[in-house]
Amino acid sequence: MENSIRNHFRERLKKARPCYIADSGRNLPAKHVGGRLLEIGCGARFTYRTAGLELYGLDITTEMLPVLKTRFPTCNVVLGDSRELPFRDKAFDIVVFSFLLHHLVHATPKGCVINMHVALQEAVRVMKDRGIAYVREVMVYNKIISHVLFYLTALCAKLHISLDFLEMRSDVVTFFLTEKMFRKLCANLRLEKLSWKEWKFWFLGKSGVEFSLAKKLSEIN
Ligand SMILES: C[S@@+](CC[C@H](N)C(=O)[O-])C[C@H]1O[C@@H](n2cnc3c(N)ncnc32)[C@H](O)[C@@H]1O
Repeated sequence: MENSIRNHFRERLKKARPCYIADSGRNLPAKHVGGRLLEIGCGARFTYRTAGLELYGLDITTEMLPVLKTRFPTCNVVLGDSRELPFRDKAFDIVVFSFLLHHLVHATPKGCVINMHVALQEAVRVMKDRGIAYVREVMVYNKIISHVLFYLTALCAKLHISLDFLEMRSDVVTFFLTEKMFRKLCANLRLEKLSWKEWKFWFLGKSGVEFSLAKKLSEIN
């Protein structure tokens, strides 16, 4: 599965789809100046950056990293898997996931959720006690839509069919969480919501969601 993900993103990068190249960098609140930021599954760009931040980008697709480094020469690029981060505990002030979670798929929906749990757990491990995690993700309104899209994309991948009008590409299986599933994952990892923003951008019951999350104070010694 990891290989089809890599191939998929290699192709997308080659075709230079604007969404992979566009400079979307948003500023973060001034309190983050001077901190160390890790974007997990960064692709060829940083979602957030503010002058004074030390930037680390990690991605599983090798080809993304030279593009990122050319665009942000002072950043640190790391080839790796979100489920096994090659960093020490509590190394980062800010950890970012931008549209990665739905790619952490497995043969079953339950396996997908476990993969996401492992990736978020790794993020919590490398995040400082008073750090912040920003998670941007596509979510769906209910479990039925989530499962239908998962099995539909799995079938398309098996039959090598692309349904571009549904943004479904052959070989890429996706699993979209519902907000309820995401909140449960956060609760299991003792993460609490600081802020939340939603934007509806598609049909089929999908929306974009951006969470900022912190470790629960009661968990911090
Ligand atoms: C949809 S793109 C998002 C890229 C970027 N974050 C953005 O918002 O434009 C997903 C990225 O995650 C990477 N990726 C997929 N699976 C990964 C994994 N297990 N660990 C790390 N990166 C992964 C892909 O190579 C791809 O660059």
